[in-house]
Formats: sequence, C-alpha cells, structure tokens
Amino acid sequence: MSEERAIQEEFERAAPAFAERTRGRFDDLPATGFSRVESHETVLEVGCGTGNFLRQFRGHAQRLIGLDLTAGMLGVAKTQHPDLGLVQGNARRLPFASASVDLVTSAQALHHIWDPIPVVMEMRRVAGPQGRVMVVDQHTTESYEQASFMNQLEAIRDPSHAVSRPPSAFRIIITSSGLEIVDEHLWEGTNRLSQWMWPGEFPEERIEQVRGFIEKHGPETGMDWERDGDDWVFTRRRMMILARRA
Ligand SMILES: C[S@@+](CC[C@H](N)C(=O)[O-])C[C@H]1O[C@@H](n2cnc3c(N)ncnc32)[C@H](O)[C@@H]1O
Repeated sequence: MSEERAIQEEFERAAPAFAERTRGRFDDLPATGFSRVESHETVLEVGCGTGNFLRQFRGHAQRLIGLDLTAGMLGVAKTQHPDLGLVQGNARRLPFASASVDLVTSAQALHHIWDPIPVVMEMRRVAGPQGRVMVVDQHTTESYEQASFMNQLEAIRDPSHAVSRPPSAFRIIITSSGLEIVDEHLWEGTNRLSQWMWPGEFPEERIEQVRGFIEKHGPETGMDWERDGDDWVFTRRRMMILARRA
C-alpha cells in the first residue's frame, strides 16, 4: 500500500475521535509566540488534520489556511472551525503560488512521511524569500537504538506511521531543504497510554499489541514507560523549528 493510501485509510477511520482526543495537545506549546506571527500575516498548515494546531493562530494572524490529504479530517475541521480556509491536497505538490504565504507550518505530520525533504522544500517555495517555515513534530531521543524501538512501537499503534526522528535529524532535514534555522524549542511532557490510544479510536487488538510491546521493550524505547495501575505513563517529546531561506 502506498504511504498516502495508508495515511488516508488510518485517518478517515479515526477523524472524529482524533479531533476530540488531541484537542488540547498544543495548549502548553508556545507555538504562536515562537512563530513570530504578525496580525496581518497568512498562515498555512500542511497536514492540518482536524485543525487543532492551526486554530491556535486564530486572533494572531489575518488568514488561516489548512491543507490535508484526508477528506475525513478536513470534514471535521470544517465543522469545528468554519473560519479556516481548507484545501484537500498533497504536501508534495502544494497548490499555492511561490512566495504567497508568510508562515508555512506543519505539525505532527512529518513523522508520516518517509522522505520529508521534498515536502519541506515545497514549504520553502510557498514561503518565499521573506517567509518563514515552522516544523513541529514529536521526536525520539538521540539514541539510534531507542529511536528504533520507539518507531516499532509507533508502527504497531498506527500503521500509517513512517518514522519519528531525533532533533539532530530535523536540523539536517531543514538545512538540506535550503533553509537556515532561526530558532528551536524542545518540549517534554507526560502522557498516558489510555489517552494516547483511546478505545473508541483504536482497535482493541492494537491496544493489546502495544501493551505487550511496552511490557517487553518499554525501557528500550527511551519513552520512560512507568506502570500506573492498569495504565502506563510515558514521556512525550516535541520539537519546534523556525526557519527561513538560507
Ligand atoms: C497526526 S495528524 C496531525 C494533524 C494536525 N496537524 C494536528 O496536529 O492535530 C497527521 C495529518 O497529516 C496528514 N498528512 C500526512 N501526509 C500528508 C501529505 N503527504 N499531504 C497532506 N497531508 C498529509 C494526514 O492526513 C493527517 O491529517
């Protein structure tokens, strides 16, 4: 199955529950201040899903546009956030003119993409010489072994997962796409398995497989899994990078 087909299959099924489960996950990430967004600017999010990240820019920018591959995700975004401009499309071929957007962002989408440099280069094209590119995504530790185990776990949880990367890999992706890093921010918080995998969103057998993997390999993932009664608590790591044309 192609990368895109797997993503659409997973997110069409999950869309309404995904929107609810992830509603507040960016609330303690200082994304708008970090982005240096200004009130006259246009913001585009590539892989906007149900709009939970893009909505943070409401009141901070003049125009908010979200692009996503999956119609079901955009359908939920349209219902919940009617003020967003929404476009169905592929991050590899953004249907926007060069230098037409002030801030081109992407949150929690690059880990679904095996080959992210062409996507970041597209974001750079649309941002143009004066614009900014901002990437937000989960990250692994810098240990190759821990990253491998975390990715095995993520692939069981979500078959459309491609690869979570360490901060050093994001820096290479950005600079290899013809951008220079203006700022970066590493964030760490705790989450729990019961929140990460809602029973209404994920098939029961997947939840059981993930539980089995954590029991066997949890310590090797670098995610600091700790039992809490029937549940598990773990460390969630995210990174924000702000960049502009080199
Ligand atoms: C984990 S969700 C994140 C959604 C949203 N950014 C958020 O953080 O709430 C990943 C989203 O990226 C989208 N996506 C993945 N690959 C894409 C691509 N090549 N082009 C456009 N959207 C893509 C998926 O359809 C999905 O909605």
